[in-house]
Amino acid sequence: MAGDWQRAAAVTLILGWSMASAGCTQTETVAGPVAESAVPAKFLTDPELFAPGAKVFKYRCAACHSMDANKSQFFGPHLDGLIQRKIAGTPGYTFTEEVQQLSIVWTTPVLLEWLERPQQMVADMCMPFTGLPKQADREALLAYIYQASEAK
Ligand code: HEC
Repeated sequence: MAGDWQRAAAVTLILGWSMASAGCTQTETVAGPVAESAVPAKFLTDPELFAPGAKVFKYRCAACHSMDANKSQFFGPHLDGLIQRKIAGTPGYTFTEEVQQLSIVWTTPVLLEWLERPQQMVADMCMPFTGLPKQADREALLAYIYQASEAK
């Protein structure tokens, strides 16, 4: 397990890279809160999507995110219980200051749209990740996040 200073250095490196390459100097944000009914979207509870979603998570997210709320944070906040949480609402993680000011709620439709082109929707969030172009990958990933959170 890397020491705190090592982790901080790695984060600085990653965020520095992202700022240089992902246009983090923009300040425009195009999304607002979206209301969602209490009933989860049908695909979220589809057990068939768990395995493919876990695969997407492993290859595209797990380098920086954990699904375990009790596990120390990686480069990014843990994503346990993400769906329906307000942006930057994960306890114990210090988000970029601009991101803390946003009023986005991570509802299913917001996440589906954001995951397609993260930088375009939330320019201030310096997450060095370019997006999941396939709708099927995004739905499977969200189903995995939903079901892995529910299981706890
Ligand atoms: C290279 C590292 C990296 C990768 C890969 C990555 N993220 Fe992130 N993510 C971050 C960082 C760093 C933050 C915090 C950004 C900030 O504070 O501005 C973040 C923030 C987030 C947030 C906001 C959390 C909250 O509580 O508001 C979500 C949601 C998220 N990431 C989802 C994902 C998903 C889903 C994937 C995979 C498809 C992914 N990320 C891939 C580094 C990464």
